[in-house]
Amino acid sequence: MTKRVRKAVLPVAGLGTRVLPGAKTTPKNMLNVVDRPILSYIVEEARAAGIEHFVFIVGRGQNAIEDYFDSSPEIEQALEAKKKTSILEEVRRDLPQPGEMSFIRQMAPLGLGHAVWCARDVIGDEPFAVMLPDMLMATERPALAQAVDAYEKVGGNIVVVEPAPEGEAHKYGIVALDGQDGRLNRMTGMVEKPAPGTEPSNLFISGRYILQPEIFNILETQERGAGGEIQLTDGMANLMAKQDFHALEYEGVTYDCGDKIGLLRANVAFALRRPDLADAARQAIQELL
Ligand code: UTP
Repeated sequence: MTKRVRKAVLPVAGLGTRVLPGAKTTPKNMLNVVDRPILSYIVEEARAAGIEHFVFIVGRGQNAIEDYFDSSPEIEQALEAKKKTSILEEVRRDLPQPGEMSFIRQMAPLGLGHAVWCARDVIGDEPFAVMLPDMLMATERPALAQAVDAYEKVGGNIVVVEPAPEGEAHKYGIVALDGQDGRLNRMTGMVEKPAPGTEPSNLFISGRYILQPEIFNILETQERGAGGEIQLTDGMANLMAKQDFHALEYEGVTYDCGDKIGLLRANVAFALRRPDLADAARQAIQELL
């Protein structure tokens, strides 16, 4: 019997240099895709996978995130008085139950591995999800739910992957597989940004993981890796010597909202997926072209 995945770590403490100056006063993951902050989509995806507790790893100047997931009496009362009930529902839909969210300060952005390690006490001794909140996934079945399905089948650790665009595998973290049969395959390794021509597969790590708590002991003493940062990939590679890892090629498309064009593509793609906006969005795009 595998232990249920109940908690998710959402590291948002990075500097967001690729989307500055927008990310200077608005945390990157609070930038809008259509009419909601990116984090709203991520929390919705996590809930659909059965997540009950959200652990945000935040940095200085990111109080807007806590405020977004709190009630806003002035706005709510004004909407109530004006009987704007559908907008009121939209404003309230992301509100958590009291006690469902924790916010941990990373204090210095020392890397994704360090950010995840900051969650150790809140996670405790159970498997947990990691969601990179700048990776937005357009899917039928939510991406994290697909990862949980895979975890319930094979246990251990799961890394969600996706085929890289032709000729671009060297830009990403790429997995090595022990044979490829269907969408769920045992991993034998992973490599950050392999030199062109040396990629062990074309599958990149796309920002959703299910990890066992033993990763925390490894991250605790880990040296800095690429870019002088404590890398989650290095920690996972180390854990792989002792535990099973499977790569799940999920069904869907990832938009990297931490990148200018990725954020633009996400806005267009998510507007086109919205029944209430698709026609108007299509017309606007055609006019611009
Ligand atoms: P990224 O490297 O994509 O985010 O990290 P970044 O550092 O904000 O982006 P750039 O390169 O400066 O534009 C992936 C995720 O991990 C978080 C980031 O906030 C992002 O959601 N992260 C990264 C942390 O929480 N802490 C860190 O020390 C590093």
